[in-house]
Amino acid sequence: MAKSINFILLFSLLAFAPFCQIEGSLYPQFYEGSCPRVHDIVNSIVAKAFAKDPRMAASLLRLHFHDCFVKGCDASILLDSSGTIISEKRSNPNRDSARGFEVIDEIKSAIEKECPGTVSCADILALSARDSTVLTGGPNWEVPLGRRDSLGASIQGSNNNIPAPNNTFETILTKFKLKGLDIVDLVALSGSHTIGDSRCTSFRQRLYNQSGNGKADFTLDQNYAAKLRTQCPRSGGDQNLFVLDFVTPTKFDNNYFKNLLANKGLLSSDEILLTKNKVSADLVKKYAERNDIFFEQFAKSMIKMGNITPLTDSKGEIRKHCRKINK
Ligand code: HEM
Repeated sequence: MAKSINFILLFSLLAFAPFCQIEGSLYPQFYEGSCPRVHDIVNSIVAKAFAKDPRMAASLLRLHFHDCFVKGCDASILLDSSGTIISEKRSNPNRDSARGFEVIDEIKSAIEKECPGTVSCADILALSARDSTVLTGGPNWEVPLGRRDSLGASIQGSNNNIPAPNNTFETILTKFKLKGLDIVDLVALSGSHTIGDSRCTSFRQRLYNQSGNGKADFTLDQNYAAKLRTQCPRSGGDQNLFVLDFVTPTKFDNNYFKNLLANKGLLSSDEILLTKNKVSADLVKKYAERNDIFFEQFAKSMIKMGNITPLTDSKGEIRKHCRKINK
């Protein structure tokens, strides 16, 4: 008798397992019943923004990263300063650099019209990052959903947790590990620098005084460095823009890794993936050789990054406007 009850229990567990969600976990069908058109709405507005300004895809992809590394993927990056909130938009990695906030606002307002109070700003960031990757020719993946939005921001977290372009390899890897990501994720996700731009101020040091000896970084191709110096002077021109991947600047592909092998990575944080660690150097070589393996790992690592300590269930809230918490 006990045996058959056990059997019935096991059978019903297995039969219903696909419909049960583990508390606190994200899943792609989260809005299937409550806002089935959410994917189309995000996709059409991201596509429109990309058509107007191709760099926007890169900017939206980066916003998701700069959101997740602070307090988890909770849209804290989108909050403006007000009351006790000091906006993360003012942090070193974001100031004069992070962009795309108006596109997120437009998506949020379209979604609020369709299904009010339902879709989080954090999920909009995750979907926009995926759509931006696909629009530029990169891999596709199903985005796990169900994140909720934070009730605050952390400018300290933004300053401390997001790697800086002049950080050492060890520091960058530590910052990834603190978020549950490993060396494979680090190399694959750095592949995001296959699209988008950097300001002169983010890599100037490499052109003039990499290690305090008044010399350019010797791991940077000297002809490439000379060319960069013409638009990125010793002083001034801080905001001048340079493509991160000079071969195919608006296409998501593995040329970023090929550039590293040719000593033509733009940021110090890019080139050190090849020069400072054997494991990461081997990954750079693998991704330079095999675009398919890069794409597959990129998708996996994006899902992993998107899972960094989300707020779920009754934690946080669904903001009405992404720039401010609800009253
Ligand atoms: C590994 C450590 C990383 C460092 C040190 C780093 C640093 C930077 C810097 C300095 C810029 C240029 C910013 C400017 O000058 O305005 C940049 C741009 C960018 N980063 Fe990273 N990044 C890292 C990882 C990532 C990751 C993990 C992603 C996405 C998953 C990402 C996506 C991007 C994109 C797409 C751009 C171009 C943005 C635009 O054109 O608006 N980065 N990054």
